[in-house]
Amino acid sequence: MIHSTATPGLILREFKIYERFLDVEGQRAMVADLREVARRAPFFSPQTPYGKPMSVRMTSAGTAGWFADKSGYRYTDTHPQGTPWPPIPSRVLDVWRTVSGVARAPDCCLINYYGEGARMGMHQDKDEADFEFPVVSISLGDEGLFRIGNTTRGGKTQSLWLRSGDVVVMGGAARLTYHGVDRIRFGSSPLLEQGGRINVTLRVVR
Ligand code: SIN
Ligand code: MN
Repeated sequence: MIHSTATPGLILREFKIYERFLDVEGQRAMVADLREVARRAPFFSPQTPYGKPMSVRMTSAGTAGWFADKSGYRYTDTHPQGTPWPPIPSRVLDVWRTVSGVARAPDCCLINYYGEGARMGMHQDKDEADFEFPVVSISLGDEGLFRIGNTTRGGKTQSLWLRSGDVVVMGGAARLTYHGVDRIRFGSSPLLEQGGRINVTLRVVR
């Protein structure tokens, strides 16, 4: 274990929140990196096992990418088009190195795009092999209302608006805490020309 070289400005139910971790220049550069990933591995709308398409569009970088269809949620070696997921951009890995507190690099970089009206229901991230490794999340573009629950479904929740450049680390008790995004404020950030919100999550999957 190494120690993180950054201190969170806010801790909410063990979620460590680094507000404006990336400045505008860093955000723009990261969006350019992610566009390159999406050029090689286009965004798609996963189907949930319940048969409904998710409102969020997704793609991944790394050796494990996130995928969902009728048979369930899982990590795959390839994009649905059959090609390997592109490598995780080094600028994204730099964020992990600074805040994760662990020496291992992530093998999955999931990129979620929230267009107008998109949301993500309350869920746990629990398809990874070892929960000792945190999940690191980077927000870019429009503001998103992030809801934090408990380690079991239901109960009281707390919400906060995540803004462009914010980084959240979900480790320790937060690692298996339910969380979701109720809504975004479409058009609240000038970062993405077409509007919307990008959330990048980094995980050690295997
Ligand atoms: C997620 O939990 O996968 C996404 C969280 C977010 O969009 O902030
Ligand atoms: Mn999640």
